[in-house]
Amino acid sequence: MKVFITRKIPVNGIDLLKKKGYDVKVYPKEKPISRQELINGAKDADAVITLLTDKVDDAILSKLPKIKIISNFAVGYNNIDISSAAKRNIMVTNTPGVLTEATADTAFALLITCGRRIVESDEFMRKGKFIGWDPMLLLGTELKGSTVGIIGAGRIGAALAKRCSGFGMKIIYFSRRKNEYFENKLKAKKVTLTKLLSKSDFISVHIPLTPETHHLIGREEIKLMKKSAVFINTARGEVVDEKELIKALKAKKIFSAGFDVYEGEPIVNKELLKLKNVVLLPHIGSATFETRSKIAEIAAKNVIAALSGKKPPFLVN
Ligand code: NAP
Ligand code: GLV
Repeated sequence: MKVFITRKIPVNGIDLLKKKGYDVKVYPKEKPISRQELINGAKDADAVITLLTDKVDDAILSKLPKIKIISNFAVGYNNIDISSAAKRNIMVTNTPGVLTEATADTAFALLITCGRRIVESDEFMRKGKFIGWDPMLLLGTELKGSTVGIIGAGRIGAALAKRCSGFGMKIIYFSRRKNEYFENKLKAKKVTLTKLLSKSDFISVHIPLTPETHHLIGREEIKLMKKSAVFINTARGEVVDEKELIKALKAKKIFSAGFDVYEGEPIVNKELLKLKNVVLLPHIGSATFETRSKIAEIAAKNVIAALSGKKPPFLVN
């Protein structure tokens, strides 16, 4: 059995596959693989481990006649046409759970960094602007007592809510279904999106990118936010109309925003780079040694199950 991996991943995942006797090939370059290189690498393979940067659409799938499984090295799988894969009897898997805490840490880091203007303060120091303690210098928003609105009450949304609760924040959430953990453990209320946007001091997005959630946060939704609102997105860039968000940030219609993900990444809107009231991260939500090793293990285990004729642990189609 042949397994193709579209980028170097932690070695524990590769070792698991090699121990099974599979012929494992890893794309050797330190950059995202091109469509043609993906096809060339995977056309004889039985399984492929893809990244969230690999767009696996119907045209690509049609060129991979032997593939039994696309094992995505991520929890989000919006990069894969899962219905086309299903039609072709190709399994698609993801890696949920193991990256929840690391990603919630990143969202929380953005939340406190934006609220308390930590990056701006660091820049202020480096520019030699500090001339002494000032009662009015770089004031931000206090976490305790403020309200955080969580969009998407799933694993990562819940893990962020738990952190916020520990800091004395009030929690409201928007999801399609009521979430017992939010309601009972965190005493959080499910509200409409409109209410969440207008009531929250901090807003954090944790829904997957789907046709329904594309630009869920657009011009009208941004208009509902408080002038003091801090907006955090660690889900997917396309959930937010980035151009409208940039306009609001420029005009100081909201206080600040923290980004780990971008619309059309890796391209980053140049206007964002000019803004002082944003914090920009290069999609590092799950980037800890521990978590990335666990993702590698799960991605490999999904492949092993599929190639052994079993149902993979995290099948999504
Ligand atoms: P999850 O457990 O599936 O949570 C997502 C939640 O969103 C679900 O519980 C769902 O609740 C809600 N939802 C889905 N569609 C919705 C809709 N149309 N309207 C309202 N709510 C909706 O997923 P997760 O593990 O927390 O991951 C969430 C996302 O984070 C991933 O899909 C991925 O894109 C992103 N992510 C990013 C990073 C990073 O590095 N920045 C790392 C990991 C994950 P209901 O069913 O109740 O609506
Ligand atoms: C990262 O963005 C993931 O979906 O795992």
